[in-house]
Amino acid sequence: MQINLAQLQQEIDELALISENPPPVVTRVLFSGADLRARRFVKKLCRDTGLNLREDAVGNIFARWEGSDKNLPAVATGSHIDAIPNAGKYDGVVGVLGGIEAIRALKKAGFHPKRSLELLIFTAEEPTRFGLGCVGSRLLGGVLSPQKAATLRSPDGKNFTQWLKQAGCRGKLDSVRLPKNFYSAFIELHIEQGPILERQKISIGIVEKIAAPSTLRLQLTGVGGHAGATLMRGRRDALLAGAEIALAVENAALTTGSPDTVGTTGVFKIEPGAVNSIPCHAHLEIDVRDTNVSTRDAALAKIEKISRRICKQRKIKLDFERLNTDPPAICDAALVRTVSQVCREFKISARKLISRAYHDSLFMARVCPVTMIFIPCRGGISHRPDEYSSPAQIEKGVRVLAKTLAIASLR
Ligand code: GLV
Ligand code: MN
Ligand code: MN
Repeated sequence: MQINLAQLQQEIDELALISENPPPVVTRVLFSGADLRARRFVKKLCRDTGLNLREDAVGNIFARWEGSDKNLPAVATGSHIDAIPNAGKYDGVVGVLGGIEAIRALKKAGFHPKRSLELLIFTAEEPTRFGLGCVGSRLLGGVLSPQKAATLRSPDGKNFTQWLKQAGCRGKLDSVRLPKNFYSAFIELHIEQGPILERQKISIGIVEKIAAPSTLRLQLTGVGGHAGATLMRGRRDALLAGAEIALAVENAALTTGSPDTVGTTGVFKIEPGAVNSIPCHAHLEIDVRDTNVSTRDAALAKIEKISRRICKQRKIKLDFERLNTDPPAICDAALVRTVSQVCREFKISARKLISRAYHDSLFMARVCPVTMIFIPCRGGISHRPDEYSSPAQIEKGVRVLAKTLAIASLR
């Protein structure tokens, strides 16, 4: 089996140019003009590969290579092509374009799948548009109800249904959920987004567990006013309450007793945002994760309690919302073994890993057995324009994916 690395790298580079910002920055927020163009680009590659395309009501894309036994549940792979603001070109993309190359390589090698092989491109893995990540896979996995999805809004107030309509998605939200065991396996190829593989000079990470993510959204309303004419005493400054909360998030994550708890105030917007005006409003989005649910939940409880106390003391109105609190996913032991065997057979170094980032696999685990194949990325850097994985690393990841898909397809 030959991986056509030159073609794959060219496609990765070409997709990176479909961005809302000039290179090297990749920004492709869900259903932006760039995201819609990128979807067309990837669908064309799927058609050129001879795959049958289908799209569901939320724009999840499915590209299928029919197997000889159409009645058996298919084997699936895939990832996402949406990208957060100021991102790089590999996050998600390696799993999508690498998945297409894995299928092309299997076709060229004369492989005939028994179970169909299906590539998925998920809608909104990134939370930028709606504050919630993995919207497409949550709906597929039945983790997000269609009713709740319909209430999602982007910061400009536009709701999920309006976005879907504008993006040309058709059909009813309640048709998206997949029945249990719709696939026999889901295997996602992804960059590690952490430093372990590079540091240990290991080529492949085989994911055994995906950490438990959660997101909070806080709206703080104080009282604005003239920055010169309003004396300090009695001010109700929404930014200052938010600043205290952001520090409390850091403290809560540092004091759970688990080195795996991480807390980030990644969104902090104030209004009106004028130098001579007291901030009357602050919007915070806070990301808290852990490999362990109990320490993650302890941090969440602490953040909520302290936020309420700070806002009470500062006479700030607080709207505190838990957008998601997800459990971790445990990967399938048999699939993990299969990937290990494939690496041994190819003499590619591998180790088991926990994914600290979340992925669509977290929610596909509700539908079928899953695992992920990680490749190293330089410095463990991701969600930045200088994100990088070498062609040699990508080639190994795609080869391991292709062989794993082939084995799973014949099972
Ligand atoms: C996915 O992009 C994550 O934030 O883990
Ligand atoms: Mn990402
Ligand atoms: Mn990703």
